[in-house]
Amino acid sequence: MRQIASRVDTGSAQYAANRDAYLGLVATLRERQQWAIDGGDGRARSIERHLARGKVMVRDRIDMVIDEGTPFLELSTLSGWGQYGNSAPGAGIVTGIGLVHGTPYVFIANDATVKGGSLLPVSIKKHVRAQQIAEEHRLGVIYLVDSGGAFLPLQDDIFPDKDHFGGSFYRQARLSAMGLPQLSVVLGGCTAGGAYVPALSDEVIMVEGIGRIFLGGPPIVKAALGEIVEPDELGGAELHTLISGVSDYLADTEAEAYGRLREICETTAQRRIDDRQGWLDWVEPEPPAYDDEELYGIVSADDRIPFDATEVIARLVDGSRFSAFKPEWGTSIVCGFARIWGHRVGVIANNGIIFSESALKATHFIELCEQRRVPLLFLQNTSGYMVGRDSEIAGIAKHGAKMVAAVANATVPKYTVLIGGSYGAGNYGMCGRGFNPRFLFAWPNSRIATMSAATAQTVLVDIRLAGLKADETTPDQVEALRAEVAEQYETQSDPYYATSRLWDDGLIDPRDTRKLLGFLLDICAEAEVRPLKSNTFGVARL
Ligand code: COA
Repeated sequence: MRQIASRVDTGSAQYAANRDAYLGLVATLRERQQWAIDGGDGRARSIERHLARGKVMVRDRIDMVIDEGTPFLELSTLSGWGQYGNSAPGAGIVTGIGLVHGTPYVFIANDATVKGGSLLPVSIKKHVRAQQIAEEHRLGVIYLVDSGGAFLPLQDDIFPDKDHFGGSFYRQARLSAMGLPQLSVVLGGCTAGGAYVPALSDEVIMVEGIGRIFLGGPPIVKAALGEIVEPDELGGAELHTLISGVSDYLADTEAEAYGRLREICETTAQRRIDDRQGWLDWVEPEPPAYDDEELYGIVSADDRIPFDATEVIARLVDGSRFSAFKPEWGTSIVCGFARIWGHRVGVIANNGIIFSESALKATHFIELCEQRRVPLLFLQNTSGYMVGRDSEIAGIAKHGAKMVAAVANATVPKYTVLIGGSYGAGNYGMCGRGFNPRFLFAWPNSRIATMSAATAQTVLVDIRLAGLKADETTPDQVEALRAEVAEQYETQSDPYYATSRLWDDGLIDPRDTRKLLGFLLDICAEAEVRPLKSNTFGVARL
């Protein structure tokens, strides 16, 4: 496969300006990620209380479970950003993928230093999303439970609907029935809904002194029955492990519990991630020929100035080798085959607006990948499909629809990275969230909306003016309307606004893209060769 010949001038003023701007974006990303760890209004007091009780911080808990020296892929770290009055860092829940004895597990771990680990609407979305990842990749789930259950003031956004709290129980039961281990360690008060996470698990460990499970806590019991009862008497670790049987193992400390959990994982006979036997199409990986740090200088600081997707591909794929499909036709979309960490992928990347030809080329290429069972990687940077009379005459609507239909119906694993703009139906045709890519990540320069703020100013103002009496509208009023629309679109297309709401699986430093995709492709390849076991009803606690 031929190697991409880069044309980037690393000595140019534009490269230096882009690079400086991007380093600023990465610094902001790191700063905001720290907010998820120990930031947020009133959090310092909660952290102090948590530590004073001898409890371990949520990310340290995960580190104590996973294989020493291995990384943890945390998802949607900045969920909750800018919502709930800055009081819900990470939406109070940490999710991600980590290795135990070499086998990947999905982790769902409550952060009790955020609203007592109770679940806000975004936390539920994050919990359910993690379970969806487990299902698609046939992974076991480890629940580190320290949660006050549903966040009661917002119960109508959490409780009754599909994929609300009940949906997470439904999924947990179904995952167990698929033969995927559901394992819980109880590390805090699990009340009402919170009690069902351990109760629905295959095996449960409770930590003495901090772990409690009850359907109704002491205040509810007092109100309902007039009984006054201490928390440990009602649902402590000893009670549930020695008497009720809701828990299977008692641990004196968190460290002991994680040791026991690792022992349980040894009995589940899952495959190691590095067991490549049976992988369909894998070769030894080769690093790209160009330094990934150059991505900072390639991505335009000014989003009105386009950048070449091929230069990005050259820094993501093995050996920078890329076999371009129809390179001289429909050039606003780049399609071609490459490898990432040894796995073959079909890459579809935007070079701006999607024209009819580009849409047809992408559709044809998706068909090839489907035919050859090659996973698809979409790199989004588009203002959408081409508008205008010429385009309509050329049938852009039907050609765009073919691409959208091909993406929707492709059954190969799909991965999406927003490397720039993600506007209009371009988001859909390029496998946005609604098209169920296995994972969707975004770079911190990305933007996502129906249209850019600049376009929206014209379109929305014109629409609204048509409803007003134009001759009675002053230039100042028009200007104010324009500013209002611009502000709305700028705020809502910001990548932090998107990631806060889980429109993606996280914002990533462009330099992490390749290794992240490599890890995800490993997990996917491993899942493809593992037969799914099903005993129909999963494991019920008896
Ligand atoms: N909904 C809303 N807020 C909740 C909550 C819930 N389910 N559970 C806890 N919180 C909040 C508390 O109000 C408190 O907020 P504050 O810091 O602003 O005062 C914070 O989370 C910490 O709770 P606190 O009770 O001080 O912590 P704790 O560690 O002593 O106890 C719990 C933790 C989870 C055992 C306890 O808060 C509890 O029992 N919560 C209610 C659980 C419940 O009835 N859930 C029903 C779910 S269906």
